[in-house]
Amino acid sequence: MKTIKELDIKNKRVIIRVDFNVPIKDGVILDDNRIKKSLKTINYAIKNNSKVILLSHLGRVKSVEDLKNSLYPVSIRLSELLNKDVIFINETKGEKLENAINNLKDGEVLLVENTRFEDLDSKAESNNDLSLSKYWASLGDVFINDAFGVIHRSCASNSIATYLESGIGFLIEEELSIINSAITNPKRPFTVILGGAKVSDKIGLIENLINVADYILIGGAMANTFLKASGINVGSSLVEDDKIPFCKKVLLNDKIILPIDVTTQNSTYFITDIKNEDKIYDIGPKTVSLFKQYLDSSNTIIFNGPVGMFEEDKYSNGSKGICEALKNNDGVKIAGGGDTASFIINNSYEAVFTHISTGGGATLELLEGKTLPGLEVIK
Ligand code: 3PG
Repeated sequence: MKTIKELDIKNKRVIIRVDFNVPIKDGVILDDNRIKKSLKTINYAIKNNSKVILLSHLGRVKSVEDLKNSLYPVSIRLSELLNKDVIFINETKGEKLENAINNLKDGEVLLVENTRFEDLDSKAESNNDLSLSKYWASLGDVFINDAFGVIHRSCASNSIATYLESGIGFLIEEELSIINSAITNPKRPFTVILGGAKVSDKIGLIENLINVADYILIGGAMANTFLKASGINVGSSLVEDDKIPFCKKVLLNDKIILPIDVTTQNSTYFITDIKNEDKIYDIGPKTVSLFKQYLDSSNTIIFNGPVGMFEEDKYSNGSKGICEALKNNDGVKIAGGGDTASFIINNSYEAVFTHISTGGGATLELLEGKTLPGLEVIK
């Protein structure tokens, strides 16, 4: 698979698939990390005098109401970050777009409207309609995919690679190299901190990483199912009963470390003291200390999923405690998953990590060892 550096992009029309799927409220971008992470590839293309054509999705587009998901605010932010004009075309195909591309000068940047506007009638983008891929390919000479966050999807904008000379950008190159080397050749001990609501979301990851990791520390609501599987009364906490057999099987492995105390709506208890009316929302301070012992001696760490219901400040102490515990660790520290990244960024823990992945589902599928359709079409 070629990288952008191995392709001749000079003075060419270069289509770059980026992931500008950022949270926007009332026209205001709440987190521009993904836009910032795309700058290296875009600037490289500008420096090479390419005519830069950017494609991205934004949210899901199921009805006309979702046409509010315009990339226009992103074009403004991108222009500020690049310190140059960004031509925004509020169409995904047609004469207006084609004329604007024909008039592009070397080094200019054009952003096409949300690719998922093509989902409105026939789901052409999300259902990987190759006639749409072919049309978009006709607008450029070279295709670069740098949209790591959506690389696990078979979609028309990823499949442009079928029709043009193609490669990956710097962001995808970095994500793949850091995450793959952590899971295939980790500096040991290798510890995974797993959180999030559901065991069912993490089965593939656990099955893949249990063979490689030295320890898997489990928090979040998914820990409730593991605790129940190990015979603990978790009161009225969220539990996936149908996943208890899976958890029992995994627990035969002594790599799994579970919480020893938890915070509920009432108080913080040892796990053996939970009452029937209690609901667990976070790991407790003794668990943070226990997890810290494993983390202190680890040389590779992956943090996937907050360990408590961090959206409520009173239940964010566990996740904050994990980040604090990692501060003095000099190893490779990777954070992945949409919620994990936003927790880290919103609480100013970016500097603690060597890599914060821009992917949610994509990172998960990479950690599960799955093949990623967006890369397959490039290969
Ligand atoms: C993400 O935010 O995880 C990516 O942009 C993919 O978005 P999607 O889940 O809507 O395909």
